[in-house]
Amino acid sequence: MNTNSDCIGFLDSGFGGITVLAEALKQLPNENYIYYADIEHVPYGTKTKDQVRTYIFEAVEFLVKQGIKALVVACNTATSIAVKDLRSMYTFPIVGMEPAVKPAVQNGNGKRVLVLATPLTLREEKFHNLVQRVDTDHIVDYLAFPELVELAEHMVFDFEKVIPVIKEKLSLLDINSYKTFVLGCTHFPIYRKAFKEVLPQDIDVIDGSIGTIRYLSHLLEERGIINNQKTGGKIKYFDSGKPVENQQRLDIFNRIITEF
Ligand code: SIN
Repeated sequence: MNTNSDCIGFLDSGFGGITVLAEALKQLPNENYIYYADIEHVPYGTKTKDQVRTYIFEAVEFLVKQGIKALVVACNTATSIAVKDLRSMYTFPIVGMEPAVKPAVQNGNGKRVLVLATPLTLREEKFHNLVQRVDTDHIVDYLAFPELVELAEHMVFDFEKVIPVIKEKLSLLDINSYKTFVLGCTHFPIYRKAFKEVLPQDIDVIDGSIGTIRYLSHLLEERGIINNQKTGGKIKYFDSGKPVENQQRLDIFNRIITEF
């Protein structure tokens, strides 16, 4: 029997989607969650599209067996390559991530926008269509930053180690020509404070989590499946289909929810 059908499934290659789950816990505290970190296959962003699609379909099938009522593809790379197909395969609400390029362009006053994401996200047509649609003044630049995913998955969070990596990546850019940095990978908000430390104060650093969860909330409301009972907030974590029992890992999940 299916005992978890009141849950919302979250899927990511690893730690990144926890930054989106943290926003869900704020906006939808009455819901219960199942989080799937595909640690057997992380990172997604440097693999081929076909490889990653296979992993995503496997992960979603697992979540569906748990009995989810909605799915958040809490990974920009996975969203770019699979969200459309997933929506044609399942009838429950499915929301994905989109780099926050539109608000960044609107916020920019003509100053440039830099989108940071994985190589696979930046290669995809979905990203280029988005930029073409909103960037009428040609102010959007983009840069692949897979190194940050590696740092997160190796649990490297100390500023002393992270800041030199960010500085090195941005060293060839004219930083003062930018008004907004878009974090287009769900792992990157883990390092938001490190970005703020490196960048001039007037540069905004934004991501898509708030909008994604707002949209999820709207869909749950619309379908009449939002949980209005104050019984929620439970989270079950799975690493590629196995319950997470490692306390160090659970501590990091909690740290990302509360601190980053
Ligand atoms: C990765 O696994 O490479 C990161 C996925 C993302 O785009 O959020």
